[in-house]
Amino acid sequence: MSLTFAAQKDLAWSADETISALHADPRFGEKFADHMAIATWTPDDGWHDDKVVDYGPLDVNPASAVLHYAQEIFEGLKAYRHADGSVWLFRPEANAARFANSARRLALPVLPEEDFVASVLQIAATDARWVPDAGESGEKTLYLRPFMIAYEDFLGVAPAKKVLYSVITSPVGAYFAGGVKPVRIWLETKSSRTAPGGTGEAKCGGNYATSLLAQEEAYAKGCSQVLFADAVEHAWIEELGGMNIMAVSADHELITPELSGTILHGVTRRSILDMAPDLGLTPVERRLGVSELLDGIRSGRFPEVFACGTAAVVTPIGSLVDESGETTVKEQTGEITMAIRNRLLDIQFGRAEDSRGWLRQVC
Ligand SMILES: Cc1ncc(COP(=O)(O)O)c(C=O)c1O
Repeated sequence: MSLTFAAQKDLAWSADETISALHADPRFGEKFADHMAIATWTPDDGWHDDKVVDYGPLDVNPASAVLHYAQEIFEGLKAYRHADGSVWLFRPEANAARFANSARRLALPVLPEEDFVASVLQIAATDARWVPDAGESGEKTLYLRPFMIAYEDFLGVAPAKKVLYSVITSPVGAYFAGGVKPVRIWLETKSSRTAPGGTGEAKCGGNYATSLLAQEEAYAKGCSQVLFADAVEHAWIEELGGMNIMAVSADHELITPELSGTILHGVTRRSILDMAPDLGLTPVERRLGVSELLDGIRSGRFPEVFACGTAAVVTPIGSLVDESGETTVKEQTGEITMAIRNRLLDIQFGRAEDSRGWLRQVC
């Protein structure tokens, strides 16, 4: 039977003034809306006890398996408020499908895709008051974070026999402080976040834990993110710690590393590739060498390079920094990067026709 995530009675609600104050400067992922969706899985009962409850601490025992073996997965998507006040999600079915694939890779129970979609629609509807207007930055949203954790108190190394699924939400502004301006990226060719046969195409916490040291080092060098190369030859571009990467060629190809098994199948990546022809660009998914990218930037063959993902939308890359120095792409945001970014935001915020049926109305 499908899950409904019915809201419990007697939920607590923040005052309008509290929410408005947070919407004025939401930052990223620091404050959380009033409620959360939850459901439990056990082998005997399958998915059950699905409901929307007040946001609050989980009851996690120190022996809970997730704390020891990191058996967990998550997703990230956003709710957008259109000018007429209606609230919409962008391609939640794509997140549902990726979540199911992540679950299989981490030996977690699959949450049926329709139940995932029901959970995100329900929590977004319950906390619709928390979805900000786009605002001056044009990119304020309510970020939805579905996640699933091993919830069994057991220290044996085995797939958990009790699992918790939840969706929490957070009003967010721009991912990079300072809005849309080209960022410096550290090109990491020594440490890797994933490897062939590993969990690179799953969205699991372990992939992010392994990226944090390189990220700290990148910050220390004045960079805002890390671009990882492949783990075998350190010669092929993969993705950033939390975003995919694309290069625009002088002859209007939009080139992005192919899905090799070690990079995340980004929903933003797929959407931009699908709409590239509308903007006069030819989408190309193939291996992209580290030296091809750096040489191409220097020679002018790649006049624009950008990162893309739900959180940061489309963020221009101003320069790539590595041990040998800094390779500058552009000091200003490139025209094509901006056109792609605006096109995507216009669809998400209902300012352009959603000709591919990507939006799902919440309320
Ligand atoms: C490692 C990684 N790559 C790429 C992406 C972009 O994926 P999406 O466009 O689905 O947000 C993300 C963000 O979720 C990510 O964490």
